[in-house]
Amino acid sequence: MAMTSLERAEAAEHAMSQELDRIVVKSVIYTSGERDPREPLPRQPDQGRLYMMGHDPRLPRMPDKPTLFDFYKFRFGPSTHVLQSARLAKKNGVSEKIVLACLLHDISVNGFIRGDHGYWGAQLVEPYVDEEVSWAIRHHQVLRFFADESYGYKYPDSYIRLFGADYKPEPYVQEAYKYAREHKWYETSRLITVNDLYAFDPNVHVELEEFTDVVGRHFKQPKEGLGFDHSPSAHMWRTMNYPTKYL
Ligand SMILES: [Fe+2]
Ligand SMILES: [Fe+2]
Repeated sequence: MAMTSLERAEAAEHAMSQELDRIVVKSVIYTSGERDPREPLPRQPDQGRLYMMGHDPRLPRMPDKPTLFDFYKFRFGPSTHVLQSARLAKKNGVSEKIVLACLLHDISVNGFIRGDHGYWGAQLVEPYVDEEVSWAIRHHQVLRFFADESYGYKYPDSYIRLFGADYKPEPYVQEAYKYAREHKWYETSRLITVNDLYAFDPNVHVELEEFTDVVGRHFKQPKEGLGFDHSPSAHMWRTMNYPTKYL
């Protein structure tokens, strides 16, 4: 019986993933709770198979010298939330540095690690942006849990839906908040949260190119490409480029 085109596509995809399994053994994800960390890691691959040590053929291939925008296009998903946040920030007339901070504030969630994403996101961009920008990204995560009426910032309704009405941030979050509250760059970080809150609209489409100038002026794109410039966070960009490498 003839296959429909959907069946053909599914069969092709199945064959491709089987082929991949035959050739390589992928890295085991450690941080997401997908395996019991008390169990030993798998040992040698079967005869004739190798561990994955480069590009994962299931993912879009990144250019050899990837730029920040390449990561947005190939690794960060549609990035709607950060794009809308950056546009809102621009509309609200904040400085270009804060627009950039809004554009970057959740890239860890999109491409790297969700838990403590403010800290991971700050480390990702730290070598390439003004210290104030990475500081603001680091602390926006904890500031989101604390209202500040003077900026019109309420505790997000979405957090009640996501975490329950009786969720209390852990003590380290409370401590980090107290520290950030007193810091000279508090306002910069607070402005990320102000422009973060109302940034979810499925009908607003924002092109990355809207921020080409801001990124060009305030993000020091390494000429070797992100991941290949030996900066303190280059390895993190490489992990996003090759997320299933065995070592
Ligand atoms: Fe965030
Ligand atoms: Fe956000």
